[in-house]
Amino acid sequence: HSPELDRLLQAYEWSAKFYHYLLKNTEYGKAAMDYLRSRKFSDQMIDQFQIGYAPDRWDTLLQFLERRNFDLAEMEKGGLLSSRSEGKGYIDRFRGRIIFPIANRAGKVVAFAGRILGEGQPKYLNSPESKLFNKSRILYNLHQSKASIRKTRQIVLFEGYGDVISAWESGVQNGVATMGTSLTENHASMMKALADEAVIAYDGDRAGQAAAMKALPMLEATGLRVKVAVLPGGLDPDEFVAQYGGDRFREQIIESAVSTVKFKLIYLKKNHILLEEDGKIAYVKEALQIIASLHSSTEREVYLKEIASELELSYDSLKQDCNLLRASMQ
Ligand code: CTP
Ligand code: MN
Ligand code: MN
Ligand code: MN
Ligand code: MN
Repeated sequence: HSPELDRLLQAYEWSAKFYHYLLKNTEYGKAAMDYLRSRKFSDQMIDQFQIGYAPDRWDTLLQFLERRNFDLAEMEKGGLLSSRSEGKGYIDRFRGRIIFPIANRAGKVVAFAGRILGEGQPKYLNSPESKLFNKSRILYNLHQSKASIRKTRQIVLFEGYGDVISAWESGVQNGVATMGTSLTENHASMMKALADEAVIAYDGDRAGQAAAMKALPMLEATGLRVKVAVLPGGLDPDEFVAQYGGDRFREQIIESAVSTVKFKLIYLKKNHILLEEDGKIAYVKEALQIIASLHSSTEREVYLKEIASELELSYDSLKQDCNLLRASMQ
């Protein structure tokens, strides 16, 4: 490490503590605390994840860093301050935002994500990418979840901060998040290094499910066993926990995660109207493509039987079509 990086790490560590203190112990943090409570973030989780608040002022962190003799130009480069748009000098980069510290694998804070209170754009403001912070190489919460991942040999993959935190409180402590960016090969191999099985638990909305479809082959390519947790009604994991509680989240979502084939079938089905003949036939055609490529005849039978009963078709005709397709695939 260069001395400059060490100074930046020090600044992030102290700033994280400072923002956490401001949230919990000052008037400035009151509205943010109310917001977090309304979203059911507990005091325990606020501590565990060192959540903080950056007041809606220009110079809160600036003064804090100045008093500690940090080089302000360096702090601007590192993403804690911004340059004034006019004239010389600096202002706080994060203003009026909840602060989620992002740590590297060693547990050192290397970036902040700042969430606006309520609605507004951008919803999250992040530290810029740097030598320390490369989104495609960092999984949020890996430093805290490592132990549980090694023990269970399983890793749960979420989209965002709130999802990881709600899951943690529900007893799912082997969770990490890609922080909105799409999963990279680098993320996937980091996951494989610690686990045998990955559970994709992306948001239940269209974007989340499409992202899960993309992540799935990347994780499988590493040799991980993959399952998918399906969230109902477009909810994300954080919203599900707030609405139905942690026990149901564990049992009905994480422990009930489905096979990749099942997930692909569920995903396909959403694009078809099964009450219409055309829709039904089109769905079956696409489903057979997936099922026909399975090597195990037992597996093929399981899924064919499910479709047969669900769509009121005969297993025999499905099996026949499936075998024809297999023959044409060879
Ligand atoms: N994200 C981001 N910048 C945005 C939107 C999203 O960096 N403008 C990242 C964040 O890491 C976020 C994740 O993508 O946690 C998932 O996005 P989304 O589902 O939209 O946000 P939530 O995590 O559900 O955020 P919240 O519950 O606070 O609304
Ligand atoms: Mn604390
Ligand atoms: Mn989302
Ligand atoms: Mn979400
Ligand atoms: Mn959310």
